[in-house]
Amino acid sequence: MADDSTASDPTSFDSGTFRNVLGKFPTGVTVVTSPAPAPDPDESGPAAIVIGSFVSVSLDPPLVGWFVDKGSSTWTAIEAAGKWCVSVLAEDQVDLSNQFASKRGAEKFAGVECSDAPSTGSPILPDVCAWIDCTTDAVHDCGDHWFVLGKVEALSAGRDAGPLVFGGGGYKGTREL
Ligand SMILES: Cc1cc2nc3c(=O)[nH]c(=O)nc-3n(C[C@H](O)[C@H](O)[C@H](O)COP(=O)(O)O)c2cc1C
Repeated sequence: MADDSTASDPTSFDSGTFRNVLGKFPTGVTVVTSPAPAPDPDESGPAAIVIGSFVSVSLDPPLVGWFVDKGSSTWTAIEAAGKWCVSVLAEDQVDLSNQFASKRGAEKFAGVECSDAPSTGSPILPDVCAWIDCTTDAVHDCGDHWFVLGKVEALSAGRDAGPLVFGGGGYKGTREL
């Protein structure tokens, strides 16, 4: 079996090697949303960010979490709201992931018919595999990211479809999961 490691000294690595090695580990793809502030003087609308680092944390109490870059402008809005919903994308929703990752502000939601999460009112994206509606429980400082811990207020499995997966620099489908 070929080892495509290029580092001669694995204790000495740059950010490119770090990304390449950690990119071997696949993640699901979610969109974390929070509702528009009320009142919304800037008409900024709801916030949304594509998140691959979503993780189940605790069953009792029910907690989930995700990591967000400290430079994220979207996090500022989600943090202020203190509540958010995680939409788990299905394997045929690459276009939706690309739209939310590449557009800014209200353009992220262009042409996307969302429903309201029952507890927080955050947008749930259409036809997703699952959604998890949360309030912020704690925010932990982790290097150049924040770890956002959420208390699960409501959740549901959605469409019977495999989840979208991102790994090795690209999207994969996973109907078997
Ligand atoms: C598949 C995928 C997974 C991502 N996962 C994360 C993540 O876990 N944490 C994060 O901070 N950004 C993640 N991003 C990047 C953000 O979605 C993107 O940088 C964001 O839209 C830009 O930040 P801002 O608009 O909040 O400033 C991911 C992007 C993609 C395409």
